[in-house]
Amino acid sequence: MEVIITENYESMSKLAASLIRQQLLSRPNSVLGLATGSTPVGTYKELVRMHREEGLDFSQVVTFNLDEYLGLPPSHPQSYRYFMDENLFKHINVPPGNIHVPYGHAESVVEFCAWYEEQIKAAGGIDIQILGIGGDGHIAFNEPGSSLGSRTRLKTLTEETIKDNARFFKDEAEVPRFAITMGVGTIMEAKRIILIANGKAKAAIIAEAIEGPITAQVSASVLQMHREVVVILDAAAGSKLKRADYYRWVYEQKKRLVPQMIGRM
Ligand code: GLP
Repeated sequence: MEVIITENYESMSKLAASLIRQQLLSRPNSVLGLATGSTPVGTYKELVRMHREEGLDFSQVVTFNLDEYLGLPPSHPQSYRYFMDENLFKHINVPPGNIHVPYGHAESVVEFCAWYEEQIKAAGGIDIQILGIGGDGHIAFNEPGSSLGSRTRLKTLTEETIKDNARFFKDEAEVPRFAITMGVGTIMEAKRIILIANGKAKAAIIAEAIEGPITAQVSASVLQMHREVVVILDAAAGSKLKRADYYRWVYEQKKRLVPQMIGRM
C-alpha cells in the first residue's frame, strides 16, 4: 500500500486525476470504477479540465459506479446517477452507453445485482477504482460487518451514515435507508485502487483503516490485502497516521528519483 500525504484538497485531487490520466493514456479503453461523495468532486473537476484543455479522451472508456441509493430514480438530485452526470459525465466525451450506475429503482434488486456483476466481468474487470471512505470506514456502502468477500447487493445504511449524508438532503428523514452497492469482494478485484480522503473528520478512520488490523468492522482495512492500492490524503486526513513521516519520506524520494513510479507501488 502506498500512502501519499499531500498538502491540501487541491493537491490530493490533482494527483488522483493525474494517475487516472496516466491510466487512460496507456489504455484508452480503460474500465474506470467511480465513486460519489464530496471527496472526489475535485478529482472530477480536474479530469474535466484535462478533457477540455488537454483533450484527454474518454471516448472508449467504460465506467462502473460503486453504489446508488435504493428508490431514487436517476432524475432525483440526490441520486448518485444525477451526481455523476452533473460532476463528470455531462462534461466529458464518455459514450452514454458505456456508463453504468446501479439502478436505485431496479424492479428486482437481486437480479439487478447479479447483472451488474456480470457487466463488470464482461467489460474485462475494473482497471482503476476510485474510492472515498465513510466516517465508519465503509467503502462504497459496505457498512461495518460487511463480508470481506461480499458482492454487489442491497445494504442497510448505518445511522451514522444516514446522519453523515443528511447534509445533502432537506432533512435526515429523507435519506434512503438502503442502497445497492458493489461488495468488498467486487472492489478488491479491481486491478488498481486509488483511495482519497480529506479533512480532519477522516483522520481517525484513515489511521484505523491503514495502520490498524484488517477487520470486517472497518471495510476499508481490507485494502491492506490489495496488491496495487494508493491512498492519497490531504494533510488533515493524514494527521493521525503513526508512520506519516515515513510516507512523506517515501514520496519525496520517489518525486526526486522515480516520479513515474508514484502511485505504482
Ligand atoms: C457515501 C458513499 C461513499 C463515500 C462516502 C464518503 O456514503 N457511498 O462511496 O466514500 O459517502 O463521502 P464524502 O466523500 O462526502 O465524505
